[in-house]
Amino acid sequence: MVWIKYFLKKMIYKKHIFVCTNLRDKQKNRECCSAKNSDLIRLELVKLIKKNKSNTTIRSNKSGCLNLCEFGPVLVIYPIGIWYIKVEIKDVKEIFEKSILNNNIIDRLIPKSNILREVNRLRSN
Ligand code: FES
Repeated sequence: MVWIKYFLKKMIYKKHIFVCTNLRDKQKNRECCSAKNSDLIRLELVKLIKKNKSNTTIRSNKSGCLNLCEFGPVLVIYPIGIWYIKVEIKDVKEIFEKSILNNNIIDRLIPKSNILREVNRLRSN
């Protein structure tokens, strides 16, 4: 596992969180995370990172569509690769403390393993 050691050593941030803030035109007739407060979720995360004086080790960025739009707001925490769906403002503190600082999973926010099949089913209707 030499490559894992290489990447962990080269990482600028210990944790990097991508919050989908994609805004989709209402006429597109498809959901988007921005319409479900994802910008506020990211700002709350940034506030907690600053409050914890972790801005040199943890970074939260806006991202474009992560392709789970119907289950948004969506965020992903790297390098572990934890995906969370249907995130609400009230979840952010728990995500920060449990998952970002302590690498624990919050089961209720994890997508089911067949989520992409569900996304495709919803989009085909
Ligand atoms: S708009 Fe957020 S996952 Fe697609």
